[in-house]
Amino acid sequence: MSERNMGAAVGQVPEYVEMVTRWCKQNTRMPVIVKLTPNITNILMPARAALRGGADAVSLINTIQSVIGVDLDQMAPMPVVDGQGTHGGYCGPAVKPIALRMIGDIAREPDTAGLPISGIGGIGSWRDAAEFLAMGATTLQVCTAAMHYGFRIVEDMKDGLCAWMDHKGYATINDVTGRAVRQFVPWNQLNMKFRTIASIDQDACIKCGLCHIACEDTSHQAIAKSRVDGERHYEVIDEECVGCNLCAHVCPIDDCITMQPQPVEGRLTWPEHPDNPARVTVGS
Ligand SMILES: Cc1cc2nc3c(=O)[nH]c(=O)nc-3n(C[C@H](O)[C@H](O)[C@H](O)COP(=O)(O)O)c2cc1C
Ligand code: SF4
Ligand code: SF4
Repeated sequence: MSERNMGAAVGQVPEYVEMVTRWCKQNTRMPVIVKLTPNITNILMPARAALRGGADAVSLINTIQSVIGVDLDQMAPMPVVDGQGTHGGYCGPAVKPIALRMIGDIAREPDTAGLPISGIGGIGSWRDAAEFLAMGATTLQVCTAAMHYGFRIVEDMKDGLCAWMDHKGYATINDVTGRAVRQFVPWNQLNMKFRTIASIDQDACIKCGLCHIACEDTSHQAIAKSRVDGERHYEVIDEECVGCNLCAHVCPIDDCITMQPQPVEGRLTWPEHPDNPARVTVGS
């Protein structure tokens, strides 16, 4: 197939998904679970196509096309195969955020909401498993973690998941599935009046200054640096802090910087926000 023809085929992915799914349904008594690639902008397009074709479920995500690095002596993508390289499939913990987002997209969309989802992509612990269920998965699959640690890891996940479900009072997997979906909203539906500010635990702080540099150079210059009793001292300037969370991420000490939610005064989303030039006036 020429490059040009391959391009055309990519544009027709939903049609192929629907056609192949329908063919499979017509030719087997087995349930048909359609595996979706994440190498696409809008995951709803193939999910809807699978649904139209009669799929019993979808599974996602497959691996993400990627190039792991470049051999600078051979000047070829790695791994180098006789002087050349090609793309590989990214998987494991790094792809979990992408998988959760795509599963959530399918689970929350009214026309695909009832479609059973087998969640895949970076599941390696009971907590990952619980998060995939909460975002709408009805079953789970594990690839990279099983390759890395063997099938025993699944037993560990089951033990952890059961203990957590007992603790929370969830009797079945169905009780967990989709619990977080209602709270997964488009960004413009978030309450813009919600505010958190960073707080430094001075007893835990080792005075490394990483938070100051990060906030000073790439955020809102909201961490003041001074000297107290001859020692370096870092203090958040509450009025300047926008709650971006960057300092908490760069701090090397666990829980030394915590984000403190401030009292919320009402609710205002972006569509109705005064700063939005295309704002919708409530009641109009
Ligand atoms: C070495 C390897 C081979 C794979 N082969 C296939 C395959 O033949 N068919 C397929 O649908 N997915 C294949 N996958 C994708 C996995 O089934 C899975 O969708 C993906 O790796 C994400 O899950 P994970 O993060 O748990 O690995 C493969 C993954 C790996 C790492
Ligand atoms: S949360 Fe962001 S703005 Fe606030 S102090 Fe930390 S880095 Fe600065
Ligand atoms: S990064 Fe953490 S440990 Fe380092 S100065 Fe800031 S608060 Fe203290």
